[in-house]
Amino acid sequence: MTDAAPLPVARTVANLRAIVGDWKRQGLSVGLVPTMGALHEGHLTLVREAARRTDRVVASNFVNPTQFAAHEDLGRYPRRQDEDARLLEGAGCHLMFAPAAQEMYPDGFATSIAVAGPALGLEGDARPQMFGGVALVVTKLFNQVQPDVAVFGEKDYQQLMVVRQFVRDLDLPIQIVGSPTERDGWGLALSSRNAYLSEDELAIARRLNGVLAEAGARASAGEPIDGVESDAAEALLQAGFASVDYVAIRRAEDLGSFAGVVDAPARILAAAWLGKTRLIDNMAVG
Ligand code: PAF
Repeated sequence: MTDAAPLPVARTVANLRAIVGDWKRQGLSVGLVPTMGALHEGHLTLVREAARRTDRVVASNFVNPTQFAAHEDLGRYPRRQDEDARLLEGAGCHLMFAPAAQEMYPDGFATSIAVAGPALGLEGDARPQMFGGVALVVTKLFNQVQPDVAVFGEKDYQQLMVVRQFVRDLDLPIQIVGSPTERDGWGLALSSRNAYLSEDELAIARRLNGVLAEAGARASAGEPIDGVESDAAEALLQAGFASVDYVAIRRAEDLGSFAGVVDAPARILAAAWLGKTRLIDNMAVG
């Protein structure tokens, strides 16, 4: 029995462009799955979705410093690129792009991207630097890979809205695909940050999706949103979460607010803390 060939890894933009350029000259379509590594089944679902839609799939693996504030978990964010490469290879990926920070942000780098619209509020309030950093790195990845399709998880629903917005605003010729959240057997959304949780915290974390589902059902039955949101935040505290940044029911299309009750397709979104770990989740209402 022979081992499968290991997944090719590009560490420089020049190497990435040489490989992707070769595919394009052969007339092959290209999909991109941007990741920060520490891959789990949720990421692999995105890779499979990209592989279903395109001939060649690139997964980027880069813990992007510009989307972390100084006090956040950049230093302890899990990094395991060898294992990531094996998982990607099994999921149908053709190339992992894993640049060093210096390759993405060389000395003298001086450009930023300002985002508004769906970037405002929710995660934008709690992590004001994040979506500018995401827009910057994703725009760079789009320019470096020049994919036909890019796949993002609905787990980061607000991020998906922000990406759709800047792709539209900047006329980027890339189809953005949102892929449903993968969950464990208890409904906990898969996340690289789940690795931080102790056994006790994991048991509490698994209550999050149930609280959101119940709140969503009440909102879709016509109950006033304010009360549903505050009851859900209280239920999370009762379940053992240390604090709740937000529980919010918003328009699914653009994350705009409702006046009173849900009267259009909606999404319920939440962020809450367990010890030093901040978890986010969201789901369709109704
Ligand atoms: O969702 C993530 O993992 C990151 O925000 C992304 C899109 C890879 C940009 O660094």
